[in-house]
Amino acid sequence: MTIPPPAAKPPSLLRNPLSFLGMAVASVSTAFGLPMMFIDMFSRRAHPYLAVLIYLVLPFVAAGGVGLIILGVVWERHRRRRRPDQIVPPLPRLDLNQPAHQVAVVGALAASMIVVVLLSVTGYQAYHFTESVKFCGLVCHQVMKPEYTAYQHSPHARVACTQCHVGPGASWFVRSKITGAYQVYAVAFRKYPQPIPTPVKNLRPAQETCEQCHWPAKFFGAQQKTFSHYLADEHNSPWQIQMLMKVGGGDPKLGAPAGIHWHMNIKNEISYVAADESREIIPWVRVVDPEGRVTDYMSTEQPLTPEQLTGAPVRRMDCVDCHNRPSHVFFPPDRAVEQVFDTGRLDRGLPYLKREAIRLLAQEHASEEEAHAAILAGLSRFYQAEYPELAREKALAIQHATEELQRIFSRNIFPDMQADWRAHPNHVGHLNALGCFRCHDGLHRSRDGKVITKDCNACHTILAQGPPEETRTSMLQEQPFRHPVDLGMDVTELNCSDCHTGTSGL
Ligand code: HEC
Ligand code: HEC
Ligand code: HEC
Ligand code: HEC
Ligand code: HEC
Ligand code: HEC
Repeated sequence: MTIPPPAAKPPSLLRNPLSFLGMAVASVSTAFGLPMMFIDMFSRRAHPYLAVLIYLVLPFVAAGGVGLIILGVVWERHRRRRRPDQIVPPLPRLDLNQPAHQVAVVGALAASMIVVVLLSVTGYQAYHFTESVKFCGLVCHQVMKPEYTAYQHSPHARVACTQCHVGPGASWFVRSKITGAYQVYAVAFRKYPQPIPTPVKNLRPAQETCEQCHWPAKFFGAQQKTFSHYLADEHNSPWQIQMLMKVGGGDPKLGAPAGIHWHMNIKNEISYVAADESREIIPWVRVVDPEGRVTDYMSTEQPLTPEQLTGAPVRRMDCVDCHNRPSHVFFPPDRAVEQVFDTGRLDRGLPYLKREAIRLLAQEHASEEEAHAAILAGLSRFYQAEYPELAREKALAIQHATEELQRIFSRNIFPDMQADWRAHPNHVGHLNALGCFRCHDGLHRSRDGKVITKDCNACHTILAQGPPEETRTSMLQEQPFRHPVDLGMDVTELNCSDCHTGTSGL
């Protein structure tokens, strides 16, 4: 049987406005994308925004162009079939004996090969790029600025965001891309909360992230640590506390299961119910010990009713319940200023510098620029009004102090995102936030009268305290806590964070 030749060769199905538009879109985006891709591959500097364009936006647009071409062809066929004067067979006619058809088939195959190769390269690059610290920290610049800035000054500055936030394994990777897609949308349309709420609800369990690098069974013994403080008095008087932190361990094979990392769940299991979203109020705690004995503790101050308890989500404690700021520490003004005193970059000879610094940092500022201006004006105004002679003598020291305070502000306080020490308290310790005292407040009791300890020597022992001239020469020995200023009361009756809200001394 021979195929009857077509009466007259009809014009190509590609000749329709939609396909023309598609061709224009596809070729313009490829013509832009390809050279930029080579520039990006061979340049040493990373360009996060350019990479978004090259590997995420342009391939998407080019694919859209190809889609339009196909849509145009389908539409055109449909249109022609409805016209009675044209007989259009249901599928295209292909005769590989005709040279023109051979060219068309080979051309189409070659074009699809090129497209597949290009898409794999851009896809691979896009994959790596969305995993990179640059993508997480810089692309969503305004949103991630607080976390990215704090991260760069943290012990984990060389650990990629995704190593804690995604971790290894395909299912978490897919989950992160799905939530990630929503986040990109949220950033584009400014639909994100300010500040980004913590705790992160769907953070991957610490066993699969932190414990890939930190080996829980390794913790044992104690660590000596020195805390340096400066009082908010005229002389910015230094005060040091040397302590032995009972870091402890949780694996009986490697030492007594005691101390701080005892919670680490190798043998013990601690779970709790929080009364608020931010897990600051913890009324109920359960311990299951290695023998399977269960002890439930309830806060006597803020107890839950049995009904509240049955419906509440129970969380099993892991690293992040204490180390909630391993990489994004937003220091409160008093601690941040003390750190810079410690490095010697602030002149202790400037009277009341700590107090004034805290005052300027803690004021409400609408933006970073406004804060910088307020610090500049405020500090020089104070010294000119109160110590005019000194203001002249120490003009340079005041200028340096201004710059240091501006830097502290930029690193720790982010008015745009409302991210700071108040929105993101640190749960290790108990001085500026409840931290350990969320449970260890001495008010959590079990039915048989056991209490989660608030004993000042349970987690650490103080070895020396006082002005550095004293602590340097004194014998290191276990001693009770002495509050640096005498307030005429026993401060240990209260929670330290009742007074130490990050601006102590004001
Ligand atoms: C060492 C592990 C680690 C690394 C590295 C890390 N994060 Fe985090 N991140 C955390 C933990 C833990 C939390 C808080 C979890 C909680 O409280 O539930 C957090 C919280 C956040 C939050 C929520 C807001 C907040 O401040 O609590 C954002 C946003 C964030 N990280 C972004 C980033 C970005 C961007 C990077 C890389 C530049 C990064 N993280 C690197 C561990 C890490
Ligand atoms: C990719 C490996 C890696 C991951 C993942 C990781 N860490 Fe670390 N972490 C390190 C390294 C390396 C150091 C030591 C940094 C240094 O001393 O400069 C460190 C230090 C620390 C310290 C001591 C900090 C200090 O002030 O000295 C703590 C606490 C810590 N990590 C907790 C965590 C927690 C909690 C997580 C999970 C949210 C985590 N880490 C995830 C590698 C990692
Ligand atoms: C009950 C709260 C708590 C839990 C849970 C906890 N830590 Fe810690 N961790 C601490 C405290 C407190 C310190 C001492 C801090 C200091 O020295 O100021 C510490 C110190 C550390 C250090 C530095 C000291 C060292 O010995 O190197 C690392 C690293 C660390 N923790 C990692 C982890 C990891 C990983 C987990 C989860 C497997 C974890 N921690 C669980 C409270 C906790
Ligand atoms: C979610 C509640 C909770 C939080 C938060 C918490 N703990 Fe605990 N902790 C407990 C419970 C419950 C016990 C065990 C009480 C018992 O013996 O039954 C315990 C026991 C301990 C012990 C052993 C005490 C002893 O006498 O043997 C140490 C040390 C300790 N915690 C340190 C810390 C430190 C440091 C922090 C803060 C970084 C902290 N804990 C935060 C619930 C908590
Ligand atoms: C549940 C454990 C726990 C208990 C109980 C506890 N502390 Fe602490 N304390 C800590 C941890 C953890 C830190 C270290 C915080 C850090 O590394 O920043 C700390 C730090 C301190 C510091 C130094 C803080 C600084 O920044 O200078 C003082 C002082 C202190 N504790 C006093 C006390 C006193 C007084 C009590 C008794 C009322 C007490 N602690 C009870 C866990 C505890
Ligand atoms: C009743 C309020 C109150 C309580 C409770 C309290 N403090 Fe203070 N604390 C002060 C005041 C006021 C100062 C003096 C501020 C200054 O001159 O810098 C101070 C100063 C300090 C300083 C010197 C550094 C600084 O921030 O000024 C340390 C360290 C300190 N307190 C530790 C603690 C600890 C640890 C606890 C809990 C056991 C505690 N305080 C409880 C009010 C309090």
